[in-house]
Amino acid sequence: MQDQAKAIAVLTSGGDASGMNMAIRAVTRSALAQGWAVYGVSEGYAGLIAAPEEGKIRRLTARDVGGILGLGGTVLGSARCKDFHDASVRARGIANLAALGVDALVVIGGNGSQAGAHALHEQGLAVVGLASTIDNDLEGSDITLGADTAANVAVDAVDKLRVTSSSHRRASIVEVMGRSCGYLALTVGLATGAEAIVLPEQDLGPDEVAQRIASAYDRGKHHAIVIVAEGARYNAAALAEILEREHRERVRFDMRVTVLGHIQRGGTPTVFDRLLGARLGAHAIDCLERGEHGVLVGLRGNEVVTTPLADVVGKQKPLGLELVELAQTLAQ
Ligand code: F6P
Repeated sequence: MQDQAKAIAVLTSGGDASGMNMAIRAVTRSALAQGWAVYGVSEGYAGLIAAPEEGKIRRLTARDVGGILGLGGTVLGSARCKDFHDASVRARGIANLAALGVDALVVIGGNGSQAGAHALHEQGLAVVGLASTIDNDLEGSDITLGADTAANVAVDAVDKLRVTSSSHRRASIVEVMGRSCGYLALTVGLATGAEAIVLPEQDLGPDEVAQRIASAYDRGKHHAIVIVAEGARYNAAALAEILEREHRERVRFDMRVTVLGHIQRGGTPTVFDRLLGARLGAHAIDCLERGEHGVLVGLRGNEVVTTPLADVVGKQKPLGLELVELAQTLAQ
């Protein structure tokens, strides 16, 4: 057991994710309720290591985090910071916090950010990570903050694409984010009744995709939806090009490619992500209050749990493939 933290800082790092603001609010207000001072670090690790005169680390009051819970993105700003791989650079960040009397840090972010958190922990800083990424690929949490909102944005977009695809009797080949994890693609594909879902974890070659589209045409459908994870063997454009070149006669539908891209990161946080942000943020402060750190706060089932950062970093949570079969059975 360590001494209780008396002043803490919070930062958001890596790709922004809806719900981060609720988490910032929960961390801030839960810490204030303990009588601690709270600092917000702007622009992730880049702000942490910036020269103090740049003013990237500033005190937060309860009012500073008012009116933000319904906003997507992060009011603290975020960044990907390559320099942070260097231990001497990280030491600068720790020194910046020490100069303000800050003895603990909450890191809201995904894989790369939690690797940074673990490295800081190994250098002696009390750190608690909070599982947040739209990719939902982080070990230690069944679902990560922001994934639900991103999936909802993508589902909404695909629902709209289906309307125009039907009008023109087209196949829509839609690429969704997720880095090397197929969680978003699978979730969106199942929720939109896609004819085919192409995942990094389960390769579906152009021939099989062509077969699924052709079968939709033969069944009299007026559209076909193919969801492609950005980390799959072929991205949406490459897949469409192969379908056009090698399977045109079989496919018959006219085809259009849509890459949803960063729009998936800009949604208004869903109720699920707001609750998750609140619960994980409050739990991060509970951890520091009882001297627990070097851990990631996440959700298992409906329970907020902690996992040592050492067991989280460098891993990708495996994707359960049972839903792939269900999606295929239902897309008839
Ligand atoms: O990790 C979240 C994510 O949105 C991935 O799905 C995507 O591959 C990546 O970030 C995009 O990163 P950037 O915002 O740096 O372009």
